[in-house]
Order: sequence, then C-alpha cells, then structure tokens
Amino acid sequence: MDWGMANRMARIINPKTGKAVMLALDHGYFLGPTHRIEEPRKTITPLLPYADTIMLTRGVLRNCVDPESCANVVLRVSGGVSIVGPALEDEGITTSIKDALRLNVAGVGISVFIGSSHERQTLLNLAELVNQGQEYGVPVLGITAVGKELEKRDARYLSLCCRICAELGTHIVKTYYCEDFEKVTTSCPAPIVIAGGPKLETEMDVFELTYNAIQQGAVGVDMGRNIWQNDYPVAIIRAIRSIVHEGLKPKQAHKLFLDVKSEHEKAAANA
Ligand code: R5P
Repeated sequence: MDWGMANRMARIINPKTGKAVMLALDHGYFLGPTHRIEEPRKTITPLLPYADTIMLTRGVLRNCVDPESCANVVLRVSGGVSIVGPALEDEGITTSIKDALRLNVAGVGISVFIGSSHERQTLLNLAELVNQGQEYGVPVLGITAVGKELEKRDARYLSLCCRICAELGTHIVKTYYCEDFEKVTTSCPAPIVIAGGPKLETEMDVFELTYNAIQQGAVGVDMGRNIWQNDYPVAIIRAIRSIVHEGLKPKQAHKLFLDVKSEHEKAAANA
C-alpha cells in the first residue's frame, strides 16, 4: 500500500487496536434536517473528541466543523436523491476527488443498492470511485444501502453485497448487523464496519449490537442515530468507544454510560 493510502487508512482504523469508531452524520444528504441533527454544529461539536472519524457531506463539513478541530473525515460523495423523490437508489457521485483532497479527507464514502434497478449504476459509481481513490491514495468506504427495504438486512443478502463491494476494490465496507453476521464478515476480504440503523429501544441494545458485531468480526462502527438521538450522546459514544477499542462487555459499557451521564447531569444542575 502506498504511503498516502496507508496513512489515510490509519486515520480511519486505529493501527494500535485495529478498530474504528466512525460517527455518521450524513443523513441530511437525502433526509434533510433529521431529528436531533437539525443544527449540525450543535450535534457534532461535543462528539468530535470521541470519534476517530466523522462521516458527512462537504456542505456540512465546510459550514459546521472548524478546520482547527483536526477532525478526520470520511466524506459522503454519493447522492442526488431525496426521501420524497421517486427512487432513493438512483444515486450518482456528487463530489469530485479533487474537492475531497482539498478537504484533506481520510476517505470517501458511497452507497450501492444491490438488487435494485440501479444496481449497475451504483456499482459502477463505486468502481469509478475506487479507481480515483487508488490514483490519489484515498480509501473508499462502500456502503451496502437498502433504501426503504429494511427487511433485506439478512446474512445472505448482506454477504452478497459486502463481497461484491470488496471484489470491486472497496477498502472498507459499511453494512448492517444481522443474524449469522459471522457469515458476512468471513466471506468479505475487506474490513467491515456496521451502521446502527434506527434508534434502538435501550442503551443496552446498542451496546449488545456493538459488542456482538465486534465479536463476530467487524472492525468497528459507523453509527449515527443511536448516538446523537440519545439524550446523552457523549455518554453513549464514550461507552461505544470502550467496547470497540478496549473490549469492554455490554454491562461494563453500560456502567460507563451511567457514570458519564451522571457527570453530565451534575454539571447541568450546577450550571
Ligand atoms: C445512511 O444512509 C447513512 O449512510 C448513515 O451514515 C448510516 O445509515 C449510519 O447511520 P445510522 O447509524 O443512523 O444508521
């Protein structure tokens, strides 16, 4: 691996632990002002110290993240669709590799919609981005999107998607956790991170999801709503981090969550 590519990969996957905590904040690219990220700067700023990378679009990056924060960025570079439009799958590449380099990104991210009528187009978008990434030393995060069909998230389908992304040269694959997740990780030669999906009922559910994914071969998370839609986002990201990087068990992470939450409550009461 060339130095630039290796250096960028190390900014995403911590070489000391071999793991990654990515904070996903890109939802607005097709959902608009999603609940609890209506004002991105307010959501992002307190979480920055606890994320190895933030994943977002260039518009939110330029307007809502200070360059002095030294955040590592995985830039969402696919889009062109909206939740109210005719086809969520009809994505194109929205951002040039030149602009991504100008933003000093650690990587770029793009969705593929396998099994949809836009399968070929989104896979060729991914392949083209990998070609550009190889040329400039920029890792590509391939995201196995399911659009509105959440029921598609089983091991058979996700193994197919992850393997195809890896075969096309994707450097890191982002997918969903599912039953028999080990089948997905063992058949994908590229490292896998998991999305969190819609907000889960309890914090323990989030910790168990994270723990199980790591145990079954994921290198980390690229999680959004289960962090910033929680009432205590700093407490939950710190607990998730402890599972990913330090190997804490769900109950230990939950204790850390409660400790940090109570510190925040005390600070708020004294403010
Ligand atoms: C969705 O299309 C985006 O790629 C999100 O980054 C992804 O779904 C992860 O966020 P969440 O954990 O909220 O599912």
